[in-house]
Amino acid sequence: MQISFEGIDQSYGGHALFKQLDLIIPSGQFFTLLGPSGCGKTTLLRMLAGFVRADRGRILFGEEDVSNVPVHRRDVGIVFQDYALFPDRSVLANVAYGLAARGITKAQANNRALAMLKRVGLESLADRPPSALSGGQKQRVAMARALVIEPRLLLLDEPLSALDVKLRVELRSMIRELQIEAGITTVFVTHDQEEALALSDQVAVMDRGRIIQIGAPDDIYGKPNSAFAAGFVGNANLIPIVRELDADSQGDRCLETPAGLLFTTCSRPLKPGAFLAVRGSEIRLLNPSLPKPGELPGVIEHVEYRGNTIGYVVKTALGTVNVDAWTFSQTSIRRRGDEVLLELPRTSLIVEAGAC
Ligand SMILES: Nc1ncnc2c1ncn2[C@@H]1O[C@H](COP(=O)(O)OP(=O)(O)OP(=O)(O)O)[C@@H](O)[C@H]1O
Ligand SMILES: [Mg+2]
Repeated sequence: MQISFEGIDQSYGGHALFKQLDLIIPSGQFFTLLGPSGCGKTTLLRMLAGFVRADRGRILFGEEDVSNVPVHRRDVGIVFQDYALFPDRSVLANVAYGLAARGITKAQANNRALAMLKRVGLESLADRPPSALSGGQKQRVAMARALVIEPRLLLLDEPLSALDVKLRVELRSMIRELQIEAGITTVFVTHDQEEALALSDQVAVMDRGRIIQIGAPDDIYGKPNSAFAAGFVGNANLIPIVRELDADSQGDRCLETPAGLLFTTCSRPLKPGAFLAVRGSEIRLLNPSLPKPGELPGVIEHVEYRGNTIGYVVKTALGTVNVDAWTFSQTSIRRRGDEVLLELPRTSLIVEAGAC
């Protein structure tokens, strides 16, 4: 079922959060709202669930305008960050809860709940109270409870953020499998870009109540349309562009920046206030020497050893630049205080400050 937001306005305390927001979520997709804290992700999800009524605009489920349909008639399954399980009911009763209201017998409800618990690998814990479960187990129960009613729409609000990294990765593939199996349109909210890229058919990048970019994960990551998307999704370094000069002998565009001359193969037009978005993973660390165009001298300010990669924060004339180096390709780990030369890639994209 396709979901549409049409011309949504929403203000809190005189401050407009959404202005004429339009968004279409195609049927059957795993669709993620990605953005920093306070950008409006949960509010959009609560509008879909029916907990929040927009000041203006419509919400459609397929062709049906559900703007005035109350929560319990919307037929949505919801999973929150904090599980929201009933503490005084067993796991089984928690999962069967939504079915009871649908006019089926208790025995049928329990059978379906048990089958769903089996799907999430928890049938042996059916009689326990939620207080006797781990965080990951609680979240599986919450997923089972949301899916057992076979909803028209599944809403997931940061369901994994309270869990440790390993469990998060494990549970996110379970969520994706269940979603594909059920073929159900799903709206997932997160501020974790890796999670968004790993799970989604499409991602909407949001900033302060605006949708900045919508696309498949590789589009969002590979072709950010703005400085915000490049910085938030790809952790790109943003280098202001002063003006364009004549192309170099290789035919690449030559840009004057506060870091000196930089080159790019990007063909996007250059508008005032644009940046070059330089990914830390594409910067090469060289030993200090006289910088050539495209190179930037710096001093290592901070080293973060992560196993596969090493994160360096390098102080340069431009401010700090983040570099992600593959551990295996490093002859030696640089130390805090080491002088280095950064070789900037020619593949960086030109991005504009605002949304495109
Ligand atoms: N009921 C409310 N009353 C007043 N302000 C609200 C209300 N609900 C949301 N807001 C404000 O709207 C903005 C968006 O809130 P929302 O909860 O949608 O953000 P979010 O993107 O989910 O953030 P987070 O990642 O922190 O959960 C925030 O500035 C918030 O304070
Ligand atoms: Mg939220």
